[in-house]
Amino acid sequence: MKFIRVFKEGLAADESPPIWLMRQAGRYLPEYKRVRAEVGGFLDLCFTPDKAAEVTLQPIDRFDFDAAILFSDILVVPHALGQEVRFVEGEGPRLDPIRSVSELPGLGAGGHDRFERVYEAVGLIRSRLSKDKALIGFCGAPYTVATYMIAGKGSSDQAETRKFAFAEPEAFQALIDQLVETSIAYLSNQIIAGVNAVQIFDSWAGPLPDDQFERWVVDPTKRIVDALHAAHPDIPVIGFPRGAAANAVHYIGRTGVDGLGCDTSMPLHVMSGHLGPKPIVRQGNLDPLLLMTGGPALDDRIRQICAAMRGLPFIFNLGHGILQWTPPENVACLVEVVRGAE
Ligand code: CP3
Repeated sequence: MKFIRVFKEGLAADESPPIWLMRQAGRYLPEYKRVRAEVGGFLDLCFTPDKAAEVTLQPIDRFDFDAAILFSDILVVPHALGQEVRFVEGEGPRLDPIRSVSELPGLGAGGHDRFERVYEAVGLIRSRLSKDKALIGFCGAPYTVATYMIAGKGSSDQAETRKFAFAEPEAFQALIDQLVETSIAYLSNQIIAGVNAVQIFDSWAGPLPDDQFERWVVDPTKRIVDALHAAHPDIPVIGFPRGAAANAVHYIGRTGVDGLGCDTSMPLHVMSGHLGPKPIVRQGNLDPLLLMTGGPALDDRIRQICAAMRGLPFIFNLGHGILQWTPPENVACLVEVVRGAE
């Protein structure tokens, strides 16, 4: 498994990096849309192991990526904790907003059964996936998941959540603590079911001031990473603190993640530079808009990224999730150029 070898040994200077893409299973693929329409609701797809396995494997069959990522969503965690979660066509996720952990029934109320179906999907995917491909499990980081739980939807500035964290830090801490504990159990069980690595998506970590970043991003992530490392020392943990910018080196040092997901705005000289005393795998950071656009500019940027990262422990990826209007031909071209860079 080249993907896992990067964490253990790094890459030789003449080797191309392994590649996968965030949100690689999804609506830009006609075969995904077919299965999605057949199953009905998005959450039904997440909780039907055979179908979740099928869509997880679609991008591997089509593009031969080095890793598959479990098909699920970061919002299955609030759903399993008893919060009402809906995916509205053309609008994104909608939740009945909560302000306190006491408003949640907790995992007891049927949530464990929902997670069981995710673990069952993991087992199926691992048994169907070729041995040289890695399977990545994931969850949302507590802070990012909490922003959806409090606002009831995505928002561009997370103002409601940030105000709540300033005004009622104890209540927010209790919610984060619940998410830390649930995420540890959820990721551990994904590992037991067969995933080879995990990624923690902190899509909204970026705008926080440093003291808030420490308390709501670094500290909860460290608790998850410490628990996973203690129980599963061989399983790499990738953190994706999107927009962390100048906080990234501190995030790596304090959380102990094995890999850093780098967003589109991270300069290549930073991504390829010294990121602290511990060896760290870098992952990223092609602009999803450029992948959607295609053409010679795409080709040039792929080569630029590969050249900057040559010889370093590096996994090629996007700087954020693939956009639904991306032509699949551009993705095929991306894989060819990355592999051709060998
Ligand atoms: O990467 C993969 O292929 C695995 C599956 C995956 C999904 N969501 C499937 C999905 C993963 C890893 C996620 C992560 C996720 N979900 C994040 C973190 C990464 C990021 O993009 O910042 C976040 C913030 C969410 C929450 C979420 N789920 C949003 C905001 C949306 C709506 C946006 C959209 O693209 O519609 C979703 C829905 C969602 N999750 C879809 C998919 C394939 C589209 C739903 C559909 O098929 O109708």
